[in-house]
Amino acid sequence: MDIRSRIVHAGQDRDPYTGASSVPIYLASTFDQRRILSQGRHDYTRSGNPTRDALEAAMADLENGAAALAFASGMAAVSSTLLLLSPGDHVVAGRDLYGGSFRVLTTLFSRWGLATTFVDTSSPDAVQAAIRPATRAIFVETPSNPHLGITDLPLMASIARSRGLLSIADNTFATPYLQRPLDFGFDVVVHSATKFLGGHSDVLAGIAVVRDEEITARMRFIQNAFGAVLGVQDCWLLLRGLKTLAVRMDACQAGAAEIARRLAAHPRVRRVYHPGLPDHPGRDVHERQASGPGAVLSFDLETPALAERLLDRARLPLVSVSLGGVESILCHPATMSHASMPREARAARGIGDELVRLSVGLEAPGDILADIEDALAD
Ligand SMILES: Cc1ncc(COP(=O)(O)O)c(C=O)c1O
Repeated sequence: MDIRSRIVHAGQDRDPYTGASSVPIYLASTFDQRRILSQGRHDYTRSGNPTRDALEAAMADLENGAAALAFASGMAAVSSTLLLLSPGDHVVAGRDLYGGSFRVLTTLFSRWGLATTFVDTSSPDAVQAAIRPATRAIFVETPSNPHLGITDLPLMASIARSRGLLSIADNTFATPYLQRPLDFGFDVVVHSATKFLGGHSDVLAGIAVVRDEEITARMRFIQNAFGAVLGVQDCWLLLRGLKTLAVRMDACQAGAAEIARRLAAHPRVRRVYHPGLPDHPGRDVHERQASGPGAVLSFDLETPALAERLLDRARLPLVSVSLGGVESILCHPATMSHASMPREARAARGIGDELVRLSVGLEAPGDILADIEDALAD
């Protein structure tokens, strides 16, 4: 079935017991195991809950995975996935990874004994060169944060497979509506479901989707043993948000494409980063592996003072971390999403004080543009 139909029905079709249009919120921490109603499938909510099952079934279906697992946040999904590795292992990770993923790798996991080398994963040679005897995984994000850098997913999956490495892709920016890394051979997809999947800036959640049964069993063990599961009411909110993913994504990315084009011609904007622009590095690769450019763009203003002015004066968008909401969100990566990264690490990645990221929401694109233009005017 077309993904637009699956987005509405997968995992959350009519409640089998009552016919209710929406999956009930099973606010139960424990289940009487003699009951035939639960068919012995549930015992304790950390290990499984029917509402969480529905969300996990929906996400497994949309990402074409064997199973999905819901976590308390995107970082809980990322960290729980990294627990597939062991002390002494080494990871090759994208240089442009989300700041929180960088932080957890370079603080908690490095202290635990997991080493990471950060490379530009748009360069297969750089990835190959960083692989050592102890390397066990490749971790990429595409489009990446905040420069919308593109990594060739089929190529990365084939490098990982040929070197016997686990491959992990953060698919937060594209969502399964636009891009499905497991189809290209990736082993695990992670999401900050807080973003486009939830879509309404009202829930914090994470998802991991796994391609095969063997890794699924290991991930289920980690989810239950480590315990960073998503609460039942948040599972329901996410199911609710997910149903409109396709229409939200279509509208938001149409707006983003228009705004990116217009900002590229703005005299105070030095450079715009958006996979829909003709000169965006890796655009061809992105078009081969994704069905749209997504709804996020970043831009360098002429000076840091202009970025400050825009953030002070813009009235329509939220000025905050996060993205993927129905409302547009302006973010200053250097002081917000990437503040957890040391200044030198930010400078090495071209994340200057003049860089601004815009997640385009469902407002009329003309209104967002007018707001930005007004804010940038003298
Ligand atoms: C690409 C990406 N991955 C992971 C995360 C972490 O997700 P969360 O904030 O839900 O823990 C974020 C959050 O901004 C993100 O943008």
